[in-house]
Amino acid sequence: MRGLFITIEGPDGSGKSTQIENIKKFFENKNIDIVFTREPGGTPIGESIREIILDNRFKEMDPMTEAMLYAASRAQHVAEIIGPALDAGKVVVCDRFVDSSLAYQGYGRNLGEAVEIINSYAVREYVPDVTFLMKLDPDVGKHRIEENRENQDRLEHEKLAFHKKVYEGYLELERKFPDRIVGIDASLGIDEIRDEIYRKLEEII
Ligand code: TYD
Repeated sequence: MRGLFITIEGPDGSGKSTQIENIKKFFENKNIDIVFTREPGGTPIGESIREIILDNRFKEMDPMTEAMLYAASRAQHVAEIIGPALDAGKVVVCDRFVDSSLAYQGYGRNLGEAVEIINSYAVREYVPDVTFLMKLDPDVGKHRIEENRENQDRLEHEKLAFHKKVYEGYLELERKFPDRIVGIDASLGIDEIRDEIYRKLEEII
Protein backbone atom coordinates (compact mmCIF):
# COMPACT_ATOMS: atom_id res chain seq x y z
CA MET A 1 0.00 0.00 0.00
CA ARG A 2 1.16 3.52 -0.77
CA GLY A 3 2.38 5.54 2.21
CA LEU A 4 1.08 8.89 3.40
CA PHE A 5 2.26 12.10 1.77
CA ILE A 6 1.92 15.31 3.80
CA THR A 7 3.09 18.72 2.59
CA ILE A 8 3.27 22.09 4.34
CA GLU A 9 2.77 25.31 2.44
CA GLY A 10 2.43 29.00 3.05
CA PRO A 11 3.80 32.41 2.23
CA ASP A 12 7.22 33.51 3.43
CA GLY A 13 7.13 34.43 7.12
CA SER A 14 3.98 32.41 7.89
CA GLY A 15 5.54 30.39 10.73
CA LYS A 16 5.81 27.23 8.65
CA SER A 17 9.15 26.15 10.16
CA THR A 18 7.83 26.15 13.74
CA GLN A 19 4.88 23.96 12.80
CA ILE A 20 7.08 21.60 10.80
CA GLU A 21 8.98 20.93 14.02
CA ASN A 22 5.65 20.19 15.71
CA ILE A 23 4.63 17.79 12.95
CA LYS A 24 7.93 15.94 13.36
CA LYS A 25 7.28 15.71 17.12
CA PHE A 26 3.77 14.37 16.51
CA PHE A 27 5.15 11.36 14.64
CA GLU A 28 8.10 10.94 17.01
CA ASN A 29 5.70 10.71 19.98
CA LYS A 30 3.82 7.97 18.18
CA ASN A 31 7.02 6.14 17.22
CA ILE A 32 6.17 6.46 13.56
CA ASP A 33 9.21 6.89 11.30
CA ILE A 34 8.89 9.61 8.74
CA VAL A 35 10.93 10.71 5.78
CA PHE A 36 11.30 14.47 6.18
CA THR A 37 12.39 16.51 3.23
CA ARG A 38 12.11 19.99 1.69
CA GLU A 39 11.85 21.95 -1.54
CA PRO A 40 13.55 23.33 -3.44
CA GLY A 41 16.21 20.77 -2.64
CA GLY A 42 15.93 17.41 -0.94
CA THR A 43 18.55 15.72 -3.14
CA PRO A 44 22.13 16.67 -4.07
CA ILE A 45 20.97 17.74 -7.54
CA GLY A 46 18.00 19.60 -6.06
CA GLU A 47 20.17 21.42 -3.51
CA SER A 48 22.46 22.58 -6.35
CA ILE A 49 19.45 23.82 -8.30
CA ARG A 50 18.21 25.55 -5.12
CA GLU A 51 21.42 27.57 -4.92
CA ILE A 52 20.93 28.82 -8.47
CA ILE A 53 17.27 29.70 -7.96
CA LEU A 54 17.69 31.60 -4.69
CA ASP A 55 20.95 33.37 -5.62
CA ASN A 56 20.48 37.14 -5.28
CA ARG A 57 22.96 37.78 -8.08
CA PHE A 58 20.61 36.30 -10.69
CA LYS A 59 18.24 39.24 -10.91
CA GLU A 60 17.82 38.60 -14.65
CA MET A 61 16.24 35.16 -14.19
CA ASP A 62 13.30 34.73 -16.53
CA PRO A 63 10.08 33.57 -14.79
CA MET A 64 9.86 30.50 -17.03
CA THR A 65 13.47 29.58 -16.21
CA GLU A 66 12.57 29.89 -12.54
CA ALA A 67 9.46 27.71 -12.93
CA MET A 68 11.39 25.05 -14.82
CA LEU A 69 14.22 24.97 -12.29
CA TYR A 70 11.75 24.42 -9.44
CA ALA A 71 10.08 21.70 -11.49
CA ALA A 72 13.46 20.13 -12.33
CA SER A 73 14.42 20.04 -8.67
CA ARG A 74 11.01 18.44 -7.94
CA ALA A 75 11.33 15.79 -10.69
CA GLN A 76 14.60 14.60 -9.15
CA HIS A 77 13.16 14.75 -5.66
CA VAL A 78 10.15 12.62 -6.61
CA ALA A 79 12.28 10.12 -8.54
CA GLU A 80 14.98 9.76 -5.90
CA ILE A 81 13.26 10.26 -2.53
CA ILE A 82 9.49 10.83 -2.44
CA GLY A 83 8.31 8.21 -4.93
CA PRO A 84 10.39 5.31 -3.55
CA ALA A 85 9.48 6.20 0.08
CA LEU A 86 5.75 6.32 -0.69
CA ASP A 87 5.98 3.08 -2.69
CA ALA A 88 7.59 1.48 0.37
CA GLY A 89 4.57 2.56 2.47
CA LYS A 90 6.38 5.29 4.42
CA VAL A 91 5.09 8.60 5.75
CA VAL A 92 6.69 11.47 3.84
CA VAL A 93 6.56 15.03 5.18
CA CYS A 94 7.71 17.72 2.77
CA ASP A 95 8.35 21.41 3.48
CA ARG A 96 6.82 22.99 0.34
CA PHE A 97 5.91 21.03 -2.81
CA VAL A 98 3.97 21.59 -6.02
CA ASP A 99 1.53 24.14 -4.52
CA SER A 100 4.49 26.49 -3.98
CA SER A 101 5.10 26.45 -7.74
CA LEU A 102 1.41 26.91 -8.51
CA ALA A 103 1.22 29.88 -6.10
CA TYR A 104 4.63 31.56 -6.64
CA GLN A 105 5.21 30.90 -10.33
CA GLY A 106 1.63 30.25 -11.51
CA TYR A 107 0.00 33.23 -9.73
CA GLY A 108 2.94 35.34 -8.50
CA ARG A 109 4.75 35.31 -11.86
CA ASN A 110 1.53 35.05 -13.90
CA LEU A 111 2.60 31.86 -15.67
CA GLY A 112 -0.74 30.18 -14.99
CA GLU A 113 -1.47 26.83 -16.55
CA ALA A 114 2.05 26.30 -17.89
CA VAL A 115 3.18 25.68 -14.32
CA GLU A 116 0.54 22.99 -13.83
CA ILE A 117 1.58 21.29 -17.04
CA ILE A 118 5.34 21.17 -16.43
CA ASN A 119 4.78 20.07 -12.86
CA SER A 120 2.47 17.23 -13.81
CA TYR A 121 5.57 15.57 -15.32
CA ALA A 122 7.58 16.15 -12.16
CA VAL A 123 4.92 15.07 -9.65
CA ARG A 124 3.45 12.16 -11.63
CA GLU A 125 1.06 10.17 -9.41
CA TYR A 126 2.64 11.42 -6.19
CA VAL A 127 0.10 14.10 -5.38
CA PRO A 128 0.02 14.91 -1.63
CA ASP A 129 -2.71 13.31 0.48
CA VAL A 130 -2.90 16.28 2.84
CA THR A 131 -1.48 19.78 2.54
CA PHE A 132 -1.39 22.15 5.51
CA LEU A 133 -1.62 25.71 4.28
CA MET A 134 -0.42 28.34 6.75
CA LYS A 135 -2.65 31.32 6.04
CA LEU A 136 -1.18 34.67 6.98
CA ASP A 137 -1.73 38.11 5.52
CA PRO A 138 1.31 38.93 3.36
CA ASP A 139 1.65 42.34 5.02
CA VAL A 140 2.36 40.57 8.31
CA GLY A 141 4.51 37.85 6.73
CA LYS A 142 6.73 40.25 4.82
CA HIS A 143 7.18 42.39 7.91
CA ARG A 144 8.27 39.32 9.89
CA ILE A 145 10.87 38.35 7.28
CA GLU A 146 12.29 41.84 7.18
CA GLU A 147 12.53 41.91 10.97
CA ASN A 148 13.99 38.45 11.43
CA ARG A 149 16.25 37.69 8.51
CA GLU A 150 19.41 39.54 7.68
CA ASN A 151 19.97 37.68 4.44
CA GLN A 152 16.85 37.44 2.36
CA ASP A 153 16.93 35.21 -0.71
CA ARG A 154 15.92 36.27 -4.24
CA LEU A 155 12.27 35.34 -3.74
CA GLU A 156 11.97 36.92 -0.30
CA HIS A 157 13.35 40.14 -1.78
CA GLU A 158 10.34 40.43 -4.09
CA LYS A 159 7.98 43.33 -3.50
CA LEU A 160 4.87 43.12 -1.35
CA ALA A 161 2.70 43.15 -4.51
CA PHE A 162 4.30 39.84 -5.58
CA HIS A 163 3.72 38.28 -2.16
CA LYS A 164 0.09 39.42 -2.28
CA LYS A 165 -0.43 37.67 -5.60
CA VAL A 166 1.21 34.52 -4.23
CA TYR A 167 -1.15 34.59 -1.26
CA GLU A 168 -4.20 35.05 -3.51
CA GLY A 169 -2.92 32.06 -5.44
CA TYR A 170 -2.76 29.94 -2.30
CA LEU A 171 -6.34 30.93 -1.37
CA GLU A 172 -7.47 29.99 -4.86
CA LEU A 173 -5.77 26.59 -4.53
CA GLU A 174 -7.49 26.06 -1.17
CA ARG A 175 -10.86 26.66 -2.88
CA LYS A 176 -9.92 24.40 -5.79
CA PHE A 177 -8.73 21.43 -3.69
CA PRO A 178 -10.87 21.50 -0.52
CA ASP A 179 -10.41 17.76 0.11
CA ARG A 180 -6.64 17.97 0.12
CA ILE A 181 -5.72 21.44 1.40
CA VAL A 182 -6.30 22.18 5.08
CA GLY A 183 -6.17 25.92 5.73
CA ILE A 184 -4.65 26.93 9.06
CA ASP A 185 -5.12 30.40 10.55
CA ALA A 186 -1.45 31.31 11.08
CA SER A 187 -2.31 34.48 12.98
CA LEU A 188 -3.29 32.33 16.00
CA GLY A 189 -0.86 31.52 18.80
CA ILE A 190 1.81 28.89 18.13
CA ASP A 191 0.21 26.37 20.51
CA GLU A 192 -3.27 26.84 19.12
CA ILE A 193 -1.96 26.25 15.62
CA ARG A 194 -0.14 23.12 16.79
CA ASP A 195 -3.33 21.77 18.42
CA GLU A 196 -5.30 22.31 15.24
CA ILE A 197 -2.68 20.52 13.15
CA TYR A 198 -2.50 17.64 15.67
CA ARG A 199 -6.29 17.24 15.56
CA LYS A 200 -6.16 16.88 11.80
CA LEU A 201 -3.20 14.48 11.94
CA GLU A 202 -5.04 12.27 14.45
CA GLU A 203 -7.94 12.14 12.02
CA ILE A 204 -5.69 11.12 9.15
CA ILE A 205 -3.54 8.38 10.66
P1 TYD B 1 13.08 28.63 1.52
O1 TYD B 1 14.33 29.14 2.08
O2 TYD B 1 12.84 27.17 1.54
O3 TYD B 1 11.86 29.41 2.14
P2 TYD B 1 10.89 29.03 3.30
O4 TYD B 1 11.74 28.89 4.51
O5 TYD B 1 9.96 30.21 3.31
O6 TYD B 1 10.20 27.77 2.87
O7 TYD B 1 13.02 29.22 0.06
C1 TYD B 1 12.17 28.80 -0.84
C2 TYD B 1 11.65 29.98 -1.60
O8 TYD B 1 11.30 29.52 -2.88
C3 TYD B 1 10.41 30.57 -0.98
O9 TYD B 1 10.41 31.98 -1.14
C4 TYD B 1 9.30 29.98 -1.82
C5 TYD B 1 9.94 29.77 -3.14
N1 TYD B 1 9.42 28.63 -3.94
C6 TYD B 1 8.84 28.90 -5.18
O10 TYD B 1 8.74 30.07 -5.59
N2 TYD B 1 8.40 27.85 -5.94
C7 TYD B 1 8.52 26.55 -5.55
O11 TYD B 1 8.10 25.62 -6.26
C8 TYD B 1 9.12 26.29 -4.25
C9 TYD B 1 9.27 24.90 -3.77
C10 TYD B 1 9.55 27.38 -3.49
